[in-house]
Amino acid sequence: MGIKSKIMHLVSFLLHGESKPIYAQVSYLSPGNRLAGKKIIITGGGRGLGFAMAKKFAAEGAEVLIAGRNEQTLKDSAAMIGCRYLKLDVSTPSEFEPFIEKSEKILGGANVLVNNAGISLHERTFFDVTPETFDKQIDTNLKGAFFLTQVFIAHLKNRNTKGNVLFVSSETGDTMDFRPYGFTKAAVNSMVQGLAYLFRKEGIRINAVAPGITASDMTGIKAGGNLNAGEYAAGRFYLPEEVAEIAAFLVSDSSGCVSGQIITCNNAQTINARWK
Ligand SMILES: NC(=O)c1ccc[n+]([C@@H]2O[C@H](COP(=O)([O-])OP(=O)(O)OC[C@H]3O[C@@H](n4cnc5c(N)ncnc54)[C@H](OP(=O)(O)O)[C@@H]3O)[C@@H](O)[C@H]2O)c1
Repeated sequence: MGIKSKIMHLVSFLLHGESKPIYAQVSYLSPGNRLAGKKIIITGGGRGLGFAMAKKFAAEGAEVLIAGRNEQTLKDSAAMIGCRYLKLDVSTPSEFEPFIEKSEKILGGANVLVNNAGISLHERTFFDVTPETFDKQIDTNLKGAFFLTQVFIAHLKNRNTKGNVLFVSSETGDTMDFRPYGFTKAAVNSMVQGLAYLFRKEGIRINAVAPGITASDMTGIKAGGNLNAGEYAAGRFYLPEEVAEIAAFLVSDSSGCVSGQIITCNNAQTINARWK
């Protein structure tokens, strides 16, 4: 402790009595190296937004493991990035404990989980929603993410390790919806804030990215094609790589003071503006 810090400490002691000192560690952006030391599990990492994140994270020095249902997709994608993979269906919570155990063995411990796997069944109207479509989306987008996070955080705590969890929400989480997809993302947003608060003193951060309509199989919008979206979202659709940039910051130590935040990636389209 330098002389200046000692004086500050003494002043603080005289004013407030003895208290535990708090020190801050600042991580500076260093492109290409921002995720060194991160061991990251990404659900749904074989394609779409998950794949873009996996690629970005690996390029930033992370060790990455992608998970999903289709082994061939995972194998091909992992070979492209140079990362590891494991099969996992996020709608089967009984698989989560062995999955996290195996992932930790493969990566030599894991300190970041990205809950990206998700489905949207695009029911055309309110009357097209069925108990089956309802359950399927809840099980994949919400229940799966909840229980996988529960197992992951239990492992972090057992190993006395700090880490973070990133959820992939959606702009629909913050707006109205008459379909289960939107409900799942609204619930994810609540979960992000609830868990962030719960673990705020344990060095476990929880955040989310909430993309606008982005090129992927889910939307059928082609990344290499026309991204003009007419009236929607500043006139265009988004690219998975744009979301991956924000995700990389949120899982890195550069965002070490950020938790419980849902970062919407849609150029302010869903801000509830007073003037329109
Ligand atoms: N694209 C958008 O406009 C947009 C906007 C906002 C939010 N999001 C969110 O972004 C995330 C990724 O979406 P995307 O657009 O990349 O969709 P996508 O191209 O359809 O990819 C979905 C990914 O999730 C995986 N997946 C689906 N069900 C799964 C299950 N039961 N178990 C394990 N993995 C499963 C898929 O892998 P397998 O099929 O190989 O299992 C795939 O990797 C989702 O959470 C979605 O809600 C997307």
